[in-house]
Amino acid sequence: KTRIFSGVQPTGNLHLGNYLGAIKRFVEMQADHECLYCVVDLHAITVFQDPDELTHNTREVTAAYIAAGIDPTQSTIFNQSQVSGHAELAWILNCVARIGWLNRMTQFKEKAGKDREKASAGLYIYPNLMAADVLLYHATHVPVGEDQKQHIELARDIAQKFNNDFAETIARVGYPGGFFPLPEPVIAGAATRVMSFRDGTKKMSKSDPSDLSRINMTDDEDTIAKKIRKAKTDPEPLPSEVDGLKERPEADNLVGIYAALAGTGKDAVLADYGGGEFSAFKGALVELATEKLTPIGDEMRRLLSDPVEIDRILADGAARAHSVADPILAKTKDIIGFIRS
Ligand code: TYM
Repeated sequence: KTRIFSGVQPTGNLHLGNYLGAIKRFVEMQADHECLYCVVDLHAITVFQDPDELTHNTREVTAAYIAAGIDPTQSTIFNQSQVSGHAELAWILNCVARIGWLNRMTQFKEKAGKDREKASAGLYIYPNLMAADVLLYHATHVPVGEDQKQHIELARDIAQKFNNDFAETIARVGYPGGFFPLPEPVIAGAATRVMSFRDGTKKMSKSDPSDLSRINMTDDEDTIAKKIRKAKTDPEPLPSEVDGLKERPEADNLVGIYAALAGTGKDAVLADYGGGEFSAFKGALVELATEKLTPIGDEMRRLLSDPVEIDRILADGAARAHSVADPILAKTKDIIGFIRS
């Protein structure tokens, strides 16, 4: 049985990378799978968040999910802190994961920066919480962008070690094949790593100080057009084969974005625009991007005008998430040998 779990941090500036690498894929998966989509507020506070902004940003991610097409009556949408099992299982997994494994996480090194001693302890054990998110629901598949691959691989290692360490009691409670399924990352499509519009070698990110580096999900038509027109490119015309995009990170990025928005592949885009001038392609990209993105931004603003309704959706989702997570957490405690009443 497949079950999908994924999450987005409520840290503001939701961008095209979050949309194409994650949220758009979430929508595509909900038609034929059981899906849980989380707003990971516990993850967000690994770096200090202003309380009012955290509240707003949590609603904003929720609005983005719904505006993009996730149906909250079909999929479970909730914020992580309302389901205490995430924090409880994370503690248990802190005791399963090895420090050496965490030391290999490249995202910690990037986010902690030079003065690693000053990073929060939470930022360091963040990948264990992420493993808990997925394992708490016995999720089998996790749609994410390329940058999260290493974390999902760690979650698999943690699940495997738990299954081995407790093999005897796991068999006794009736799971001879292992208690936690090893989750598969689902990293697919033409835009699994959307790059900055200012520097094609850097990932598009929420924290880039330049707003021109990214398209935000709430940008209006004029802003989207301006950012695409100003996006860095090289002077060559577009190649007619995908191979010709090698060593041309900016061109590769824009072609990938077009393909992902259009729901085709880079080869199909180059069949139409290869050999032509960049400016013509950019014009087509402006048209496609505004057509696809501005209705989502408008719907997000409409949803955000009723925070009570958003909070109701999150509470409803949390209740449903609890009903999946609670029996799994209870079994986990039995396996470890904790007494519960
Ligand atoms: P976060 O909040 O940084 O990003 C949310 C999702 O967006 C994807 N993404 C991108 N995809 C393509 N190009 C980009 N430039 C780009 N930037 C971000 C991310 O890969 C992610 O899928 N740790 C996670 C959140 C998380 C999670 C989980 C995900 C917490 N628990 C459990 C899956 C399962 C994160 O920080 O994502």
